[in-house]
Amino acid sequence: MSITYKDEAGIQGMRVAGKLAAEVLDYITPHIKPGITTKEIDRLAAECMARQGTTSATLGYQPAGYPPYPASLCTSVNHVVCHGIPNEKPLKKGDIVNVDVTVIKDGWFGDTSRMFLVGEVSIAAKRLCALTYDAMWQGIMRVKPGVHLGDIGFAIQRFAESNGFSVVREFCGHGIGRVFHEEPQVLHYGKPGTLEELKPGMTFTIEPMINAGRRDVKEFGNDGWTIVTKDHSLSAQWEHTVLVTESGYEVLTLSAGSPPPPPFVNAG
Ligand code: MF3
Ligand code: CO
Ligand code: CO
Repeated sequence: MSITYKDEAGIQGMRVAGKLAAEVLDYITPHIKPGITTKEIDRLAAECMARQGTTSATLGYQPAGYPPYPASLCTSVNHVVCHGIPNEKPLKKGDIVNVDVTVIKDGWFGDTSRMFLVGEVSIAAKRLCALTYDAMWQGIMRVKPGVHLGDIGFAIQRFAESNGFSVVREFCGHGIGRVFHEEPQVLHYGKPGTLEELKPGMTFTIEPMINAGRRDVKEFGNDGWTIVTKDHSLSAQWEHTVLVTESGYEVLTLSAGSPPPPPFVNAG
């Protein structure tokens, strides 16, 4: 498989799917409070998707070497880096949770995630979530034709590390379209001028996983999916699906509830 460049019809399909994925996050947002279980969040999201006429890309998803993923979204709490499976444990005040939603509409995929603060959280946890959001945007704001993927990774890594955090290396962003994970890989670290050159019509995710402590991760338990920080430090992640336009980028996973871009991002 190689990079796919979307034509106008494909871009329109990606816009629809992306917005719907973001609207699932909008829908669950008021429910994320102390006491709710991640399984209840999953059920709410599944109901929302049914009403939208979308299907979850994660339910039953089974890349080579993995068991089928058992839920409609991923919920990664505190030191869980990614791919957390919804369970019966209630969220408690002070938790931070990433909710990652991927929907399919008319064959097109939209993939987005946000961090949620459960009740009042520590200043350190809040700072990690906020700066990880900014790290994602440090990557997004550089997207335009002629830029290389290494420029994107470099910007994210430099920003995260200059704030005292580390960047997870084992998981990355990805091309997306009629396939969930397609080329190219979008690393969240790297060297300027290296890797693929961006061209109009490319669609991919930027989804940095940033750790408060060391960057090392490991598998947790035996569910085949859950990834945690080795040092048990907190981890955060945000994700948008973006399109490379003739002059820059378009974020495809925006909705009414999306937080605004950070102030350092120029309009256009
Ligand atoms: N949505 C994740 C991503 O951003 C992938 C989750 S795969 C799952 O690429 F099976 F764990 F759900
Ligand atoms: Co993704
Ligand atoms: Co995702």
